[in-house]
Amino acid sequence: PVVALVLAGGTGSRLYPASRSDRPKQFLSLFGEESLLARTIARAREVADEVVVSTCEGYADEVRERAPDAEVIVEPAGKDTGPALAYATYRIRERLGECVVAVLPSDHRVGEGFAEAIRRGARVAARTGRLVTFGVEPTRPDTGYGYLEPGEFRDGFAPVVAFHEKPDAETAREYVAAGHLWNAGIFAWTPEALLAAARDSPLSPMIDALDEGASAAEAFDRVPAVSIDYAVMERTADAVVVPVEFRWDDLGAWDALERVLPADDDGTVAAGDVEVRSLDAEDNVVAADGKHVSLVGVSDLAVVAWGDRVLVVPKDRAQAVRALVDDLKDRD
Ligand code: GDD
Ligand code: MG
Repeated sequence: PVVALVLAGGTGSRLYPASRSDRPKQFLSLFGEESLLARTIARAREVADEVVVSTCEGYADEVRERAPDAEVIVEPAGKDTGPALAYATYRIRERLGECVVAVLPSDHRVGEGFAEAIRRGARVAARTGRLVTFGVEPTRPDTGYGYLEPGEFRDGFAPVVAFHEKPDAETAREYVAAGHLWNAGIFAWTPEALLAAARDSPLSPMIDALDEGASAAEAFDRVPAVSIDYAVMERTADAVVVPVEFRWDDLGAWDALERVLPADDDGTVAAGDVEVRSLDAEDNVVAADGKHVSLVGVSDLAVVAWGDRVLVVPKDRAQAVRALVDDLKDRD
């Protein structure tokens, strides 16, 4: 069977202040009626026999409410996708034995052809026992993504010669020029494949703890907070890439809005519940929850007014909001 593992435990810090630790981005309906989580679960059902949602303790009740038919795996601590995926994959293997796990992040917008491509990748994972990544043709040197250097393609996939998570801008430009692909953040693997790679990574103390029958809390205590990309994908020699052609976008930071929402005559892109007046102001992204926002003589900004918070950032610095939120956390 194919099990879709929906990742819904992140805080979405780059979408601050709409996304806050008590109301992360997966629960927001910024891009239409349905939340990102609801949309992800709907497409998970298209590719899988069973849907499992992985989230951390603080969001578990809300996930159960929003996804009453899905199995929910709860992490005792938010330690990023490395521990989350190792733990969930371990539990899935205990319950189901042989299967393919398809990992679906809940912050993507995807277009037609998604389900077919993921099923294709799942078949490669089952047949080869390798860790399957999905490669997207890059359209800009984005620093928010991982980059895959593919080897020679045969039978619809290629070995991953190198994986580079979130390079700086100059390196990203080199990767794009060299023909590397974006890591879509979607994966397919058999539990055996992922757990073998995890044993050879900073996640190994968690696998050992689980083998010894330790509680989830103990297992999480023993590992660092680290994403699967740094913990496993950058190290393993066992990854392959399946190229995909469906429209794909990570709604990770405010600049993503202009890629997925229409702009008005001034180039203004508005999200949420907001009315915008622009005077001599162009190409701004504005998001708010029930507000009237006026812009005069400014361009290329993201302006977000949510609850009692306001954020103003140049669109091309939108990735840096993560650092701001880390800084705010340290002060709390
Ligand atoms: N369960 C759980 N627990 N989920 C988590 C956790 C956690 O501790 N932390 C993050 N997530 C979820 C997020 O909610 C999101 O759905 C998904 O995992 C990915 O996390 P992001 O924080 O959005 O990752 P990213 O976008 O910076 O980077 C990843 O995705 C890119 C493409 O979208 C990497 O895989 C990159 O290499 C990739 O290019
Ligand atoms: Mg993301």
